[in-house]
Amino acid sequence: MLNNKKIILGITGSIAAYKAAALLRLLIRDGAEAQVVMTPAAKEFIAPLSLSTLSRKAVVSEFFAGKDGTWNSHVDLGLWADAMLIAPATASTIGKMANGIADNMLVTTYLSCKAPVLLAPAMDLDMYAHPATQSNLQRIRSYGNIIIEPASGELASGLVGKGRMEEPEAIIAALKNHFAMRSALHGRKILVTAGPTFERIDPVRFVGNFSSGKMGFAIAEGCAERGAEVTLIAGPVSLRTSHPQIRRIDVESAREMHAAAMESFPSSDAAILCAAVADFRPATIAEEKIKREDSSEMILHLTPNPDIAASIGALKRSGQIVAGFALETSDGIAHASAKLKRKNFDFIALNPANELDAGFGVDTNRITIIDSNGICRAFPLKSKQEAAADIINELITRLP
Ligand code: CTP
Repeated sequence: MLNNKKIILGITGSIAAYKAAALLRLLIRDGAEAQVVMTPAAKEFIAPLSLSTLSRKAVVSEFFAGKDGTWNSHVDLGLWADAMLIAPATASTIGKMANGIADNMLVTTYLSCKAPVLLAPAMDLDMYAHPATQSNLQRIRSYGNIIIEPASGELASGLVGKGRMEEPEAIIAALKNHFAMRSALHGRKILVTAGPTFERIDPVRFVGNFSSGKMGFAIAEGCAERGAEVTLIAGPVSLRTSHPQIRRIDVESAREMHAAAMESFPSSDAAILCAAVADFRPATIAEEKIKREDSSEMILHLTPNPDIAASIGALKRSGQIVAGFALETSDGIAHASAKLKRKNFDFIALNPANELDAGFGVDTNRITIIDSNGICRAFPLKSKQEAAADIINELITRLP
């Protein structure tokens, strides 16, 4: 898993820095090419010579070498790496990473790094539990970085609690798991629907809903990051897609989304249906703008839209996996389970529609995954990226 992988090993000023030597040995043993970047404080805890000997590369710590002015390019380093692993990561470095304070070579490299970043915090239990540290970690998570949670145990201070850097073997396992996950959907084709649909009333008005598309876009990005080729059928949203493995089809109405989904699904390995499709559309679309003075009352006749999920569920072949969402205001488990059956889903993600921090518009979600055997798994409030990762992990375990 690590053979020929280019890893930046960032080391910061913690007593746990001595474990970085063992970590580096494991990286090299597993065939990785490692470039050590240290903060000035880290050098107080472990000698650069030990690390350059183990990595067979000069350790980088300053922006340029004092002797001859050789410039160490953090940009080149950031582009070179397949992953950046910061272990140990102190509270100070975590704060700088969260806030983009680029006052040393390690943080500038972090900000330039396009590759995934993993970090293993190390600090005293009270520092770790402090709201400032926790909110910085939360911010770092929202950038897509992976936190290797510290272990509980005896700390250098003599206190006992959570804050001890994970053991090198566990950090290496997390790194390998990360690379395994990144290729878990390699060669797979995944269809994702996202956002609302707009159903025209006249040339300037529509029937729609408040869906922002954030959940579906997070799922599309997450699948692409794990190597899938994604077809993202998006209703009208203001979100952008950046991943080259996402083919985006923009649609407006449920019927357009239905047509695009039916075309893509037969060649897909899986579909994740996140769109908040309008169940009804105006029976006729007025050609001219409807005028206020035309009538004293406005009655809109609606006709049912196709159920995209049910059509896909009915088409599903053995081996294809279909997952959907249920946005409910009450009796969530019962409604979601009924939808799962009706639409022939393999699993469904239930999310509440009437909570401020979950559902439409916001950046967080609280999902419960229910499968066709009725097994429910409730997840805590998470960013939509993290909730997307939970759903994608569920998909990965089910794909043949
Ligand atoms: N869905 C769909 N096409 C529709 C309606 C829903 O593909 N016309 C999909 C959604 O993307 C979601 C699932 O079906 O994955 C459930 O959507 P939801 O709106 O919660 O359920 P409905 O079937 O519309 O039922 P209701 O509105 O009665 O709750």
